Amino acid sequence: STQTVADCLNLDEIEKLADEKINRKAWAYYYSAADDLVTKSHNNKAYGQILLRPRVFVDCTLCDTSTTLLSSKLKVDIPIFVCPAAMARLGHPDGEKGIAQACAKYSALQIISNNASMTPEQIVAGAGSDQVFGWQLYVQDDRSKSEKMLRRIHALPNIKFICLTLDAPVPGKREHDEREWKVKQSMAGSTASTLPVRSSLQSGSSSTTTPDPLTGPHRITDVEGLGGDTSGGVGNALFAGTAPDLKWDTTLPWLAKHTSLPIILKGVQTHEDVYLASLHAPQVQGVLLSNHGGRALDTAPPALHTLMEVRKYCPEVLEKIDLWVDGGIKRGTDVVKALCLGAKAVGVGRAALWGLGAGGTAGVERVLEILKAETETCMRLLGVGKVEELGMQHINTRVLERD
Ligand code: FNR
Repeated sequence: STQTVADCLNLDEIEKLADEKINRKAWAYYYSAADDLVTKSHNNKAYGQILLRPRVFVDCTLCDTSTTLLSSKLKVDIPIFVCPAAMARLGHPDGEKGIAQACAKYSALQIISNNASMTPEQIVAGAGSDQVFGWQLYVQDDRSKSEKMLRRIHALPNIKFICLTLDAPVPGKREHDEREWKVKQSMAGSTASTLPVRSSLQSGSSSTTTPDPLTGPHRITDVEGLGGDTSGGVGNALFAGTAPDLKWDTTLPWLAKHTSLPIILKGVQTHEDVYLASLHAPQVQGVLLSNHGGRALDTAPPALHTLMEVRKYCPEVLEKIDLWVDGGIKRGTDVVKALCLGAKAVGVGRAALWGLGAGGTAGVERVLEILKAETETCMRLLGVGKVEELGMQHINTRVLERD
Protein backbone atom coordinates (compact mmCIF):
# COMPACT_ATOMS: atom_id res chain seq x y z
CA SER A 1 0.00 0.00 0.00
CA THR A 2 1.07 3.61 -0.46
CA GLN A 3 -0.27 4.56 2.92
CA THR A 4 2.07 6.39 5.28
CA VAL A 5 2.04 6.83 9.05
CA ALA A 6 0.53 10.29 8.57
CA ASP A 7 -2.59 8.59 7.15
CA CYS A 8 -2.98 6.38 10.22
CA LEU A 9 -5.53 7.66 12.70
CA ASN A 10 -4.95 5.22 15.53
CA LEU A 11 -2.50 2.67 16.85
CA ASP A 12 -4.30 -0.31 15.30
CA GLU A 13 -3.86 1.25 11.85
CA ILE A 14 -0.17 1.77 12.55
CA GLU A 15 0.16 -1.89 13.54
CA LYS A 16 -1.53 -2.91 10.28
CA LEU A 17 0.80 -0.72 8.24
CA ALA A 18 3.85 -2.13 10.03
CA ASP A 19 2.55 -5.63 9.34
CA GLU A 20 2.69 -4.84 5.60
CA LYS A 21 6.15 -3.31 5.76
CA ILE A 22 8.35 -5.44 7.97
CA ASN A 23 9.66 -8.92 7.29
CA ARG A 24 7.90 -11.97 8.73
CA LYS A 25 10.54 -12.83 11.31
CA ALA A 26 10.47 -9.32 12.76
CA TRP A 27 6.67 -9.33 12.74
CA ALA A 28 6.52 -12.70 14.50
CA TYR A 29 9.03 -11.62 17.15
CA TYR A 30 7.17 -8.37 17.88
CA TYR A 31 3.65 -9.81 17.72
CA SER A 32 4.34 -12.98 19.66
CA ALA A 33 3.20 -13.65 23.20
CA ALA A 34 3.23 -16.75 25.38
CA ASP A 35 1.13 -19.85 24.76
CA ASP A 36 -2.43 -18.90 23.77
CA LEU A 37 -2.01 -15.11 24.03
CA VAL A 38 -4.64 -14.96 26.79
CA THR A 39 -2.71 -12.40 28.83
CA LYS A 40 -1.85 -10.35 25.76
CA SER A 41 -5.52 -10.07 24.88
CA HIS A 42 -6.62 -9.36 28.49
CA ASN A 43 -4.07 -6.57 28.75
CA ASN A 44 -6.07 -4.33 26.46
CA LYS A 45 -9.55 -5.64 27.32
CA ALA A 46 -9.09 -4.76 31.00
CA TYR A 47 -9.12 -1.06 30.06
CA GLY A 48 -12.47 -1.46 28.29
CA GLN A 49 -13.98 -2.72 31.55
CA ILE A 50 -13.31 0.56 33.32
CA LEU A 51 -15.79 3.33 32.61
CA LEU A 52 -15.08 7.04 32.77
CA ARG A 53 -17.09 9.57 34.82
CA PRO A 54 -16.96 12.91 33.00
CA ARG A 55 -17.94 16.09 34.84
CA VAL A 56 -19.73 18.96 33.12
CA PHE A 57 -19.45 22.75 33.44
CA VAL A 58 -15.67 22.55 33.70
CA ASP A 59 -13.53 24.99 31.73
CA CYS A 60 -11.33 22.79 29.55
CA THR A 61 -9.58 25.52 27.56
CA LEU A 62 -6.22 24.49 28.99
CA CYS A 63 -4.91 20.95 29.22
CA ASP A 64 -1.43 20.06 30.42
CA THR A 65 -0.18 16.47 30.03
CA SER A 66 3.23 17.11 31.61
CA THR A 67 4.19 15.39 34.83
CA THR A 68 7.13 14.40 37.02
CA LEU A 69 8.36 10.93 37.95
CA LEU A 70 10.55 9.45 40.70
CA SER A 71 9.91 12.12 43.34
CA SER A 72 10.02 14.92 40.77
CA LYS A 73 13.49 13.97 39.55
CA LEU A 74 12.31 13.29 35.98
CA LYS A 75 10.31 15.86 34.07
CA VAL A 76 8.36 14.69 31.03
CA ASP A 77 5.79 16.37 28.78
CA ILE A 78 3.63 13.26 28.54
CA PRO A 79 2.96 10.51 31.11
CA ILE A 80 3.68 7.97 28.37
CA PHE A 81 7.05 6.23 28.06
CA VAL A 82 8.56 3.78 25.62
CA CYS A 83 9.16 0.37 27.23
CA PRO A 84 12.41 -1.49 26.84
CA ALA A 85 12.13 -3.73 23.80
CA ALA A 86 14.91 -5.74 22.23
CA MET A 87 16.04 -5.57 18.63
CA ALA A 88 14.41 -2.43 17.25
CA ARG A 89 16.56 -2.65 14.11
CA LEU A 90 14.71 -5.80 13.15
CA GLY A 91 11.79 -3.51 12.35
CA HIS A 92 13.60 -0.54 10.83
CA PRO A 93 17.21 0.60 10.44
CA ASP A 94 16.46 3.75 12.50
CA GLY A 95 16.31 1.36 15.47
CA GLU A 96 16.46 2.48 19.09
CA LYS A 97 18.13 5.73 18.04
CA GLY A 98 15.02 6.56 15.98
CA ILE A 99 12.88 5.90 19.04
CA ALA A 100 15.13 8.25 21.03
CA GLN A 101 14.69 11.00 18.44
CA ALA A 102 10.91 10.60 18.52
CA CYS A 103 10.93 10.71 22.33
CA ALA A 104 13.00 13.89 22.18
CA LYS A 105 10.32 15.54 20.05
CA TYR A 106 7.61 14.76 22.64
CA SER A 107 9.85 15.02 25.70
CA ALA A 108 9.00 11.45 26.65
CA LEU A 109 10.97 8.92 28.67
CA GLN A 110 12.55 5.97 26.88
CA ILE A 111 13.80 2.84 28.62
CA ILE A 112 16.61 1.21 26.64
CA SER A 113 16.58 -2.59 26.50
CA ASN A 114 19.48 -4.69 27.77
CA ASN A 115 19.13 -6.41 24.39
CA ALA A 116 18.90 -3.32 22.23
CA SER A 117 20.24 -3.63 18.70
CA MET A 118 22.35 -0.49 19.11
CA THR A 119 24.71 0.38 21.93
CA PRO A 120 23.45 2.67 24.71
CA GLU A 121 26.15 5.15 23.66
CA GLN A 122 24.72 5.27 20.14
CA ILE A 123 21.15 5.57 21.35
CA VAL A 124 21.71 8.54 23.66
CA ALA A 125 24.23 10.28 21.39
CA GLY A 126 22.77 13.61 20.35
CA ALA A 127 20.26 13.74 23.21
CA GLY A 128 19.87 17.15 24.81
CA SER A 129 20.76 17.53 28.49
CA ASP A 130 17.07 17.42 29.47
CA GLN A 131 16.24 14.19 27.63
CA VAL A 132 15.75 11.33 30.09
CA PHE A 133 16.31 7.59 29.69
CA GLY A 134 16.32 4.48 31.82
CA TRP A 135 18.38 1.39 31.10
CA GLN A 136 16.83 -2.04 31.47
CA LEU A 137 18.94 -4.80 32.98
CA TYR A 138 18.68 -8.53 32.50
CA VAL A 139 21.18 -9.76 35.08
CA GLN A 140 23.55 -12.15 33.32
CA ASP A 141 24.68 -15.53 34.63
CA ASP A 142 28.16 -14.10 34.35
CA ARG A 143 27.62 -11.14 36.70
CA SER A 144 30.81 -9.45 35.52
CA LYS A 145 29.13 -8.80 32.15
CA SER A 146 26.30 -6.90 33.86
CA GLU A 147 28.76 -5.05 36.08
CA LYS A 148 30.67 -3.94 32.99
CA MET A 149 27.47 -2.73 31.34
CA LEU A 150 26.54 -0.76 34.47
CA ARG A 151 29.89 1.01 34.32
CA ARG A 152 29.17 2.02 30.73
CA ILE A 153 25.70 3.24 31.73
CA HIS A 154 27.12 5.40 34.53
CA ALA A 155 29.15 7.28 31.94
CA LEU A 156 25.93 8.39 30.21
CA PRO A 157 24.31 11.17 32.27
CA ASN A 158 21.02 11.07 30.35
CA ILE A 159 20.34 7.62 31.83
CA LYS A 160 18.64 8.28 35.17
CA PHE A 161 17.66 4.88 36.53
CA ILE A 162 18.05 1.12 36.15
CA CYS A 163 14.98 -0.88 35.25
CA LEU A 164 15.50 -4.42 36.52
CA THR A 165 13.27 -6.90 34.70
CA LEU A 166 12.02 -9.76 36.90
CA ASP A 167 9.12 -11.36 35.07
CA ALA A 168 11.14 -13.39 32.59
CA PRO A 169 13.80 -15.38 34.47
CA VAL A 170 13.29 -17.84 31.63
CA PRO A 171 11.67 -16.98 28.30
CA GLY A 172 7.97 -17.62 27.80
CA LYS A 173 6.87 -20.04 25.07
CA ARG A 174 6.22 -17.78 22.10
CA GLU A 175 5.06 -19.94 19.28
CA HIS A 176 4.68 -17.30 16.55
CA ASP A 177 8.34 -16.44 16.93
CA GLU A 178 9.48 -20.05 17.15
CA ARG A 179 7.40 -21.24 14.21
CA GLU A 180 8.60 -18.49 11.87
CA TRP A 181 12.18 -19.70 12.22
CA LYS A 182 11.30 -23.38 11.94
CA VAL A 183 9.24 -22.83 8.77
CA LYS A 184 11.87 -20.69 7.09
CA GLN A 185 14.66 -23.05 7.98
CA SER A 186 12.92 -26.16 6.72
CA MET A 187 12.05 -24.35 3.48
CA ALA A 188 15.64 -23.27 2.99
CA GLY A 189 16.85 -26.71 3.99
CA SER A 190 19.45 -25.14 6.22
CA THR A 191 19.87 -23.34 9.50
CA ALA A 192 21.42 -20.32 7.87
CA SER A 193 18.68 -17.85 8.78
CA THR A 194 20.32 -14.88 10.36
CA LEU A 195 19.57 -11.53 11.91
CA PRO A 196 20.71 -8.10 10.79
CA VAL A 197 21.59 -6.76 14.17
CA ARG A 198 23.53 -7.70 17.21
CA SER A 199 22.51 -6.92 20.73
CA SER A 200 24.77 -4.46 22.50
CA LEU A 201 25.31 -6.78 25.43
CA GLN A 202 25.73 -10.17 23.81
CA SER A 203 28.28 -8.76 21.42
CA GLY A 204 30.36 -7.86 24.47
CA SER A 205 31.44 -4.81 22.52
CA SER A 206 32.05 -1.53 24.25
CA SER A 207 32.74 0.24 21.00
CA THR A 208 30.48 2.97 19.76
CA THR A 209 30.94 2.14 16.11
CA THR A 210 27.88 1.65 13.96
CA PRO A 211 26.55 -1.91 13.98
CA ASP A 212 26.72 -3.90 10.78
CA PRO A 213 24.80 -2.02 8.11
CA LEU A 214 21.77 -3.73 6.67
CA THR A 215 22.38 -4.96 3.17
CA GLY A 216 18.84 -4.09 2.16
CA PRO A 217 15.73 -2.74 3.82
CA HIS A 218 14.77 -5.15 6.59
CA ARG A 219 17.05 -7.87 5.22
CA ILE A 220 17.97 -10.58 7.68
CA THR A 221 21.67 -11.15 7.21
CA ASP A 222 23.76 -11.60 10.31
CA VAL A 223 23.21 -13.82 13.29
CA GLU A 224 26.28 -12.69 15.19
CA GLY A 225 25.52 -11.74 18.75
CA LEU A 226 22.72 -14.25 19.15
CA GLY A 227 24.96 -17.21 19.82
CA GLY A 228 24.21 -18.51 16.34
CA ASP A 229 21.19 -20.54 17.42
CA THR A 230 17.92 -18.99 16.38
CA SER A 231 16.13 -22.29 15.81
CA GLY A 232 13.90 -21.50 18.80
CA GLY A 233 13.13 -17.97 17.56
CA VAL A 234 14.58 -14.57 18.39
CA GLY A 235 13.24 -14.54 21.95
CA ASN A 236 14.91 -17.77 22.99
CA ALA A 237 18.20 -16.79 21.35
CA LEU A 238 18.25 -13.46 23.21
CA PHE A 239 17.69 -15.11 26.58
CA ALA A 240 20.87 -17.18 26.44
CA GLY A 241 23.04 -16.15 29.40
CA THR A 242 20.26 -14.51 31.42
CA ALA A 243 20.34 -15.42 35.12
CA PRO A 244 17.37 -17.44 36.45
CA ASP A 245 18.48 -17.18 40.11
CA LEU A 246 17.60 -13.61 41.14
CA LYS A 247 16.32 -13.12 44.72
CA TRP A 248 15.26 -10.21 46.96
CA ASP A 249 18.05 -10.83 49.48
CA THR A 250 20.93 -11.34 47.08
CA THR A 251 20.26 -9.41 43.87
CA LEU A 252 19.43 -6.01 45.37
CA PRO A 253 22.52 -5.95 47.65
CA TRP A 254 24.68 -7.02 44.69
CA LEU A 255 23.14 -4.24 42.60
CA ALA A 256 23.73 -1.70 45.39
CA LYS A 257 27.44 -2.45 45.14
CA HIS A 258 27.48 -1.70 41.42
CA THR A 259 25.10 1.22 40.97
CA SER A 260 23.74 4.10 42.97
CA LEU A 261 21.13 4.90 40.34
CA PRO A 262 17.51 4.45 41.47
CA ILE A 263 16.03 1.02 40.66
CA ILE A 264 12.66 0.37 39.05
CA LEU A 265 11.52 -3.25 39.36
CA LYS A 266 9.80 -4.36 36.14
CA GLY A 267 7.38 -7.22 35.86
CA VAL A 268 5.89 -7.16 39.36
CA GLN A 269 2.42 -8.73 39.22
CA THR A 270 1.01 -9.09 42.74
CA HIS A 271 0.31 -6.71 45.64
CA GLU A 272 2.56 -8.88 47.82
CA ASP A 273 5.58 -8.16 45.62
CA VAL A 274 4.69 -4.47 45.27
CA TYR A 275 4.70 -4.28 49.07
CA LEU A 276 8.05 -6.07 49.30
CA ALA A 277 9.46 -3.71 46.69
CA SER A 278 8.36 -0.72 48.77
CA LEU A 279 10.38 -2.06 51.72
CA HIS A 280 13.50 -1.61 49.58
CA ALA A 281 13.03 2.15 49.12
CA PRO A 282 15.01 4.31 48.58
CA GLN A 283 17.17 1.91 46.54
CA VAL A 284 13.98 0.84 44.79
CA GLN A 285 12.05 3.97 43.79
CA GLY A 286 9.43 2.42 41.60
CA VAL A 287 7.72 -0.64 40.28
CA LEU A 288 6.63 -1.22 36.72
CA LEU A 289 3.53 -3.40 36.90
CA SER A 290 3.83 -5.50 33.79
CA ASN A 291 3.42 -9.00 32.44
CA HIS A 292 5.93 -8.40 29.64
CA GLY A 293 3.18 -7.74 27.12
CA GLY A 294 1.87 -11.26 27.72
CA ARG A 295 5.18 -12.70 26.54
CA ALA A 296 6.25 -14.47 29.73
CA LEU A 297 3.60 -16.35 31.77
CA ASP A 298 0.32 -16.76 29.91
CA THR A 299 -2.82 -16.07 31.98
CA ALA A 300 -0.77 -13.84 34.31
CA PRO A 301 -2.85 -10.77 35.27
CA PRO A 302 -3.04 -7.47 33.40
CA ALA A 303 -1.19 -4.66 35.18
CA LEU A 304 -4.56 -2.99 35.86
CA HIS A 305 -5.66 -5.91 38.03
CA THR A 306 -2.44 -5.68 40.03
CA LEU A 307 -3.00 -1.94 40.42
CA MET A 308 -6.51 -2.66 41.76
CA GLU A 309 -5.03 -5.19 44.24
CA VAL A 310 -2.51 -2.63 45.44
CA ARG A 311 -5.29 -0.08 46.03
CA LYS A 312 -7.15 -2.66 48.08
CA TYR A 313 -4.39 -4.28 50.15
CA CYS A 314 -1.48 -1.82 50.40
CA PRO A 315 -2.57 1.62 49.13
CA GLU A 316 0.11 3.27 51.30
CA VAL A 317 2.82 2.16 48.83
CA LEU A 318 1.40 4.63 46.30
CA GLU A 319 2.80 7.39 48.53
CA LYS A 320 6.17 5.71 48.92
CA ILE A 321 7.25 4.59 45.44
CA ASP A 322 6.15 5.24 41.86
CA LEU A 323 3.84 2.69 40.27
CA TRP A 324 4.09 2.56 36.50
CA VAL A 325 2.13 0.20 34.26
CA ASP A 326 2.42 -1.25 30.77
CA GLY A 327 0.68 -3.77 28.55
CA GLY A 328 -2.03 -3.32 25.95
CA ILE A 329 -2.08 0.49 25.87
CA LYS A 330 -3.73 1.54 22.62
CA ARG A 331 -5.74 4.69 23.39
CA GLY A 332 -5.52 7.92 25.35
CA THR A 333 -8.46 6.68 27.43
CA ASP A 334 -6.30 3.68 28.48
CA VAL A 335 -3.54 6.07 29.59
CA VAL A 336 -5.97 8.23 31.57
CA LYS A 337 -7.62 5.26 33.31
CA ALA A 338 -4.26 3.95 34.54
CA LEU A 339 -3.39 7.42 35.86
CA CYS A 340 -6.78 7.68 37.63
CA LEU A 341 -5.98 4.40 39.43
CA GLY A 342 -2.72 5.84 40.74
CA ALA A 343 -0.16 4.95 38.07
CA LYS A 344 2.38 7.74 37.57
CA ALA A 345 3.22 6.75 34.00
CA VAL A 346 2.14 4.34 31.32
CA GLY A 347 4.40 2.45 28.91
CA VAL A 348 4.02 1.32 25.33
CA GLY A 349 6.06 -1.58 24.00
CA ARG A 350 4.76 -2.93 20.72
CA ALA A 351 3.09 0.35 19.71
CA ALA A 352 6.51 2.01 19.47
CA LEU A 353 7.93 -0.93 17.52
CA TRP A 354 4.97 -0.93 15.11
CA GLY A 355 5.48 2.81 14.63
CA LEU A 356 9.13 2.22 13.87
CA GLY A 357 8.33 -0.59 11.45
CA ALA A 358 5.63 1.46 9.74
CA GLY A 359 7.67 4.61 9.25
CA GLY A 360 10.98 4.69 11.13
CA THR A 361 11.50 7.67 13.44
CA ALA A 362 8.47 9.46 11.93
CA GLY A 363 6.36 6.41 12.72
CA VAL A 364 7.29 6.49 16.41
CA GLU A 365 6.60 10.24 16.42
CA ARG A 366 3.15 9.54 14.97
CA VAL A 367 2.44 7.00 17.73
CA LEU A 368 3.34 9.54 20.42
CA GLU A 369 1.43 12.30 18.62
CA ILE A 370 -1.74 10.18 18.46
CA LEU A 371 -1.49 9.03 22.07
CA LYS A 372 -0.79 12.54 23.33
CA ALA A 373 -3.72 14.04 21.40
CA GLU A 374 -6.07 11.27 22.55
CA THR A 375 -4.93 11.71 26.16
CA GLU A 376 -5.62 15.46 25.96
CA THR A 377 -9.04 14.92 24.43
CA CYS A 378 -9.91 12.41 27.14
CA MET A 379 -8.77 14.72 29.94
CA ARG A 380 -10.70 17.66 28.49
CA LEU A 381 -13.89 15.64 28.06
CA LEU A 382 -13.53 14.38 31.63
CA GLY A 383 -13.15 17.94 32.86
CA VAL A 384 -9.54 17.65 33.99
CA GLY A 385 -6.79 20.10 33.11
CA LYS A 386 -3.77 18.52 34.84
CA VAL A 387 -2.38 15.02 35.22
CA GLU A 388 -2.17 15.31 39.04
CA GLU A 389 -5.91 16.02 39.25
CA LEU A 390 -6.84 12.61 37.80
CA GLY A 391 -8.18 10.25 40.45
CA MET A 392 -10.62 7.52 41.42
CA GLN A 393 -13.50 10.02 41.19
CA HIS A 394 -13.11 9.93 37.39
CA ILE A 395 -13.61 6.20 36.91
CA ASN A 396 -16.09 3.44 37.63
CA THR A 397 -14.29 0.14 38.30
CA ARG A 398 -17.31 -1.92 39.36
CA VAL A 399 -16.91 -4.49 36.57
CA LEU A 400 -13.26 -5.11 37.47
CA GLU A 401 -14.11 -5.42 41.17
CA ARG A 402 -16.48 -8.31 40.38
CA ASP A 403 -13.49 -10.40 39.25
C1 FNR B 1 9.55 -6.63 24.97
N1 FNR B 1 9.63 -6.42 26.34
C2 FNR B 1 10.87 -6.37 26.95
N2 FNR B 1 10.98 -6.09 28.27
C3 FNR B 1 12.20 -6.00 28.86
O1 FNR B 1 12.26 -5.73 30.05
N3 FNR B 1 13.33 -6.18 28.12
C4 FNR B 1 13.31 -6.47 26.79
O2 FNR B 1 14.34 -6.61 26.16
C5 FNR B 1 12.04 -6.59 26.18
N4 FNR B 1 11.95 -6.90 24.86
C6 FNR B 1 10.73 -6.89 24.23
C7 FNR B 1 10.66 -7.10 22.87
C8 FNR B 1 9.45 -7.05 22.21
C9 FNR B 1 9.41 -7.28 20.75
C10 FNR B 1 8.26 -6.76 22.94
C11 FNR B 1 6.93 -6.66 22.26
C12 FNR B 1 8.33 -6.56 24.30
C13 FNR B 1 8.42 -6.11 27.13
C14 FNR B 1 8.10 -4.62 27.09
O3 FNR B 1 9.04 -3.89 27.83
C15 FNR B 1 6.72 -4.30 27.67
O4 FNR B 1 6.60 -4.83 28.96
C16 FNR B 1 5.55 -4.80 26.83
O5 FNR B 1 5.86 -4.74 25.46
C17 FNR B 1 4.31 -3.96 27.10
O6 FNR B 1 3.20 -4.45 26.41
P1 FNR B 1 2.69 -3.87 25.00
O7 FNR B 1 2.71 -2.37 25.07
O8 FNR B 1 3.61 -4.42 23.97
O9 FNR B 1 1.31 -4.43 24.91
